[in-house]
Amino acid sequence: MMLKETYRLANGVEIPKIGLGTWMIENDDAAQAVADAVEIGYRHIDTAQAYQNEDGVGEGIRKSGVDREELFITTKLAAEIKSYDEAVSAINQSLKTMGLDYIDMMIIHSPQPWKDFAGEDRYFEGNREAWKALEEAYEAGKLRAIGLSNFQKEDVENILEASTVKPMVNQILAHISNTPFDLVQYTQDQDILVEAYSPIAHGELLKNDQVVQLAEKYGVSVPQLSIRYVLQLGMLPLPKTANPKHMKNNADVDFTISEEDMDFLKNIETIKDYGEASVMPVFGGKLD
Ligand SMILES: NC(=O)c1ccc[n+]([C@@H]2O[C@H](COP(=O)([O-])OP(=O)(O)OC[C@H]3O[C@@H](n4cnc5c(N)ncnc54)[C@H](OP(=O)(O)O)[C@@H]3O)[C@@H](O)[C@H]2O)c1
Repeated sequence: MMLKETYRLANGVEIPKIGLGTWMIENDDAAQAVADAVEIGYRHIDTAQAYQNEDGVGEGIRKSGVDREELFITTKLAAEIKSYDEAVSAINQSLKTMGLDYIDMMIIHSPQPWKDFAGEDRYFEGNREAWKALEEAYEAGKLRAIGLSNFQKEDVENILEASTVKPMVNQILAHISNTPFDLVQYTQDQDILVEAYSPIAHGELLKNDQVVQLAEKYGVSVPQLSIRYVLQLGMLPLPKTANPKHMKNNADVDFTISEEDMDFLKNIETIKDYGEASVMPVFGGKLD
C-alpha cells in the first residue's frame, strides 16, 4: 500500500511518499482531519504557520493515538520571515503551537514574502539568515529535516553556496499540465527531493476533459491519476482533503500510467485559471 512507502531524504530520514495537505482546512476542523487521515493510514501531514491550523494539527496528532515516531509532520516558516532572530522565535513558536518536542521537517515557505512573490528582489541575504536558524534547530534536534518551498534555481543556489546543512526538499507547484521540468530536474540532480504541491491543481484538473477521459481509461478518479503522475516523476504528492472518502481514494494509487500516457499528460495545455484561488500568489495572483 502506497501510504507505507517512503522516500529517503539526503540525511537518511524516511519520508512517507504521500502527504496530506491541510491548506484551507480550518483550525477547528484540522484535528479531526488529521485523526481521520491517520486512521486511514496516512503518516505524513503538511501544514504551515500561514495556514493557522498548526494548533489543530497538533491536537489531531495526539488524538490519533499513533506513536509520535510513526508520523512525519511538516510545517513551514512564514514567507515574511527573513531575519535570523525572527526565524529562531518562529521555529520555537511552531513547536509550542503544535505541542511537539520536535518537528519532522520545517521548510522556508517562499524565498520572497507573498507580496513580492516571484518579483525581482530574491531576498538572498534574508533567506540565508532564515536558513541558518533552521540549520541550528536541526543540529539541536528540534527538526529532523529542513528544506525549501517555491525556490527557483537561483534561490536554491543561494542556499547551497552558504549552507552547512543542505536542503532536503523543495516543495513546488507541480501538477499535470503545469510541471516545471527544468526545475524538477535541477533539484533532483542536487539530491533534493521535490514535493509537488497542489497535485490536483487545487481541484481544477477535475474539470479537464482530457484528464477525465484518461482517468476513465484506467478506471481511476482524476485525483488518483494526478497523484500517480507526480509519483512516477519521482516527486512526493501532497493532496489536500478533509473528506475521509477522498483520503482513501487518493491513497489508492497502485497502478501504472504507461510511458505513452505520461507523455500525453506532460504535454497537456497548461491550466492558468485556478478559479477563486487565482488571487493567490502561488497561482499567479498579486497581493496588495
Ligand atoms: N508550499 C506552498 O506554497 C503551497 C502552496 C499550495 C499548496 N501547498 C500544499 O499542497 C496541498 C495541496 O494543494 P491544494 O490544497 O492547493 O490543492 P490540491 O490538493 O491540488 O486539490 C485539492 C482539491 O481537490 C479536491 N479533492 C481532493 N481529493 C479528491 C478526491 N479524491 N475526489 C474529488 N476531489 C478531491 C479537494 O476537495 P475536498 O477538500 O472537498 O476533498 C480540493 O478541492 C496544500 O493543502 C498544502 O499542504 C503548498
